[in-house]
Amino acid sequence: MKRIFSLLLLASLALSPTPAMAQTQNARFVQGGIWPDTDGHHINAHGGGLLEYGGRFYWFGEEKASHTSSALTGVSVYVSDNLRDWQKLPTALAVDTVDETSPIARGCTLERPKVVFCERTGKFVMWFHLELKGQGYGAALAGVAQADRPEGPYRFVRAERVNAGILPFGMSDADIDAMFALNAADYPDWWTPKWRDAVGKGLFCRRDLKGGQMARDQQIYVDDDGTAYHIYSSEENLTLQIAELTPDYLSHTGKYIRVAPGHQNEAPCIFRHGGYYWLVCSGCTGWAPNAARLYRARSIWGPWEGNLCNPCCEGTAERPADKTFLAQGTQIFPLRNAAGDTTFVFMADEWHPKNHADGRYLWLPIRFDDEGIPEIPFTPDFLGHRSQVTGHNCWRLLRSAQPNCDL
Ligand code: DGJ
Repeated sequence: MKRIFSLLLLASLALSPTPAMAQTQNARFVQGGIWPDTDGHHINAHGGGLLEYGGRFYWFGEEKASHTSSALTGVSVYVSDNLRDWQKLPTALAVDTVDETSPIARGCTLERPKVVFCERTGKFVMWFHLELKGQGYGAALAGVAQADRPEGPYRFVRAERVNAGILPFGMSDADIDAMFALNAADYPDWWTPKWRDAVGKGLFCRRDLKGGQMARDQQIYVDDDGTAYHIYSSEENLTLQIAELTPDYLSHTGKYIRVAPGHQNEAPCIFRHGGYYWLVCSGCTGWAPNAARLYRARSIWGPWEGNLCNPCCEGTAERPADKTFLAQGTQIFPLRNAAGDTTFVFMADEWHPKNHADGRYLWLPIRFDDEGIPEIPFTPDFLGHRSQVTGHNCWRLLRSAQPNCDL
């Protein structure tokens, strides 16, 4: 925590404030509070993520209206040098306000945008979950856009289902036979043991093989070797998939796996630490909060272990750990200081569906217990303010209280 404090302090000393920034430079970050930008408006970047580039931080997110969660403007972007004072920039990816037939026509649903820098092309690539205007959540498309500069403007490239016609990586002949024997029409009743078994074997992956896999809540992860991966809720939100992207980060290569079939994971957030890839996800309860889940794997291609229980702990009556402190993850950001030490920050949204624009943000540093298991304690103060992190190994206590978890 001390390290983060020093990093932020140094960053703020290095900052040469614009006149607008000077007004709110001492804006206090409060978990779940109003977080004013440098113009004094509550930050409007929901379901978003950070990009660190050229020594600056860019925060991209869904620009929400108060009365609807549909995209009326597009993806917002803010810039900061210290992670606390954010200056709003022009819309990064604008919805199409002219062409009603555009996939990103004003009024579409455009969620969870994530931006990464592609070293190989020198371009910035944004992926997002797209639902077509007026079609609810039925389309389940992965959208991609590209820009020459970190803040944009981003040009829409395409939106589609993922890896049409391609089977998941590493399936045995027996697995393939079992999957091809499934027919969604034979399973009209959901949640029965027979249906669950079929979901595990790939009922919906099989159904969508021809047209491509569904992609809703999503994340992009760039590994140390520069390979990028797309992680998304697929198969009717029942199963996650992890798919490799091409070297330009603009398409899928066709290599993908299914993770935790039937677990109903949303909000996938991934990071790598201590020889494992870790995935923190949520359950699937719309805008309402639920308990987070944890998975891990030595290789991104699995096998993935879990659910390893809820990593959130040390909640309060107002911020219960079994409801992810009333929030839902959006990204786990590796915050590196000058000495090269990394603090992983669990960024989460507190959704306000009665006034979407009023949704709030929780940024919580991740701690590791002495087995190297990540735990996310509720940290009331963060970003330059005193930390109240106290306990240790709370995950282990939680584990013993959650007998149905895998570890
Ligand atoms: C939960 C998802 O995580 C959000 O991104 C959004 O799609 C809501 N569901 C919609 O109910």
